[in-house]
Amino acid sequence: MYFDDPPTDRQAMITAVAMPSDTNALGDIFGGWLMSQADIAGAILAYRRAGGRVVTVAVDCFNFILPVYVGDRVIFYADLARTGKTSIKVDLSIFAQSNWDDGAIRRVATGSMIYVHIDEARRPTPIEGDAKSQD
Ligand SMILES: CC(C)(COP(=O)(O)OP(=O)(O)OC[C@H]1O[C@@H](n2cnc3c(N)ncnc32)[C@H](O)[C@@H]1OP(=O)(O)O)[C@@H](O)C(=O)NCCC(=O)NCCS
Repeated sequence: MYFDDPPTDRQAMITAVAMPSDTNALGDIFGGWLMSQADIAGAILAYRRAGGRVVTVAVDCFNFILPVYVGDRVIFYADLARTGKTSIKVDLSIFAQSNWDDGAIRRVATGSMIYVHIDEARRPTPIEGDAKSQD
């Protein structure tokens, strides 16, 4: 599930500040930076759900809705979308808050990432038990 606004019933998985080093050649925040941060946020939730090591196997989709600017505080919410035999799908809702204007929070991106629970030999391994806390 994607959130239209920051949810009030859970904490953000991570927050980050978009820095000048995260810009592309045109000076805009690089989409890959946003995706890498989203991957970290999703992996935290997947790790908690799996109860162990996970790797990213796929970016199911990623939608860039509004631009992110240097200095924005970027807020990543993760929601457990589906648990399979060895895989976990996480929905990410990403918001940004400017430090320079009225501080309004806007949704800048959404995405869905898929992770696989792996063992010591990096083989897919079954996910057990009930869902763990997402916060
Ligand atoms: C993740 C990895 C261990 C999966 O190995 P695999 O032999 O393809 O595993 P399987 O085919 O058994 O699939 C495992 C699960 O992933 C899911 N899966 C695999 N590829 C997928 C894809 N492209 N999209 C969605 N789900 C996928 C399968 O449906 C299965 O889910 P389920 O067990 O819940 O039904 C292997 O592909 C890998 O090591 N990839 C590199 C991971 C990595 O390094 N990520 C970081 C990149 S920088």
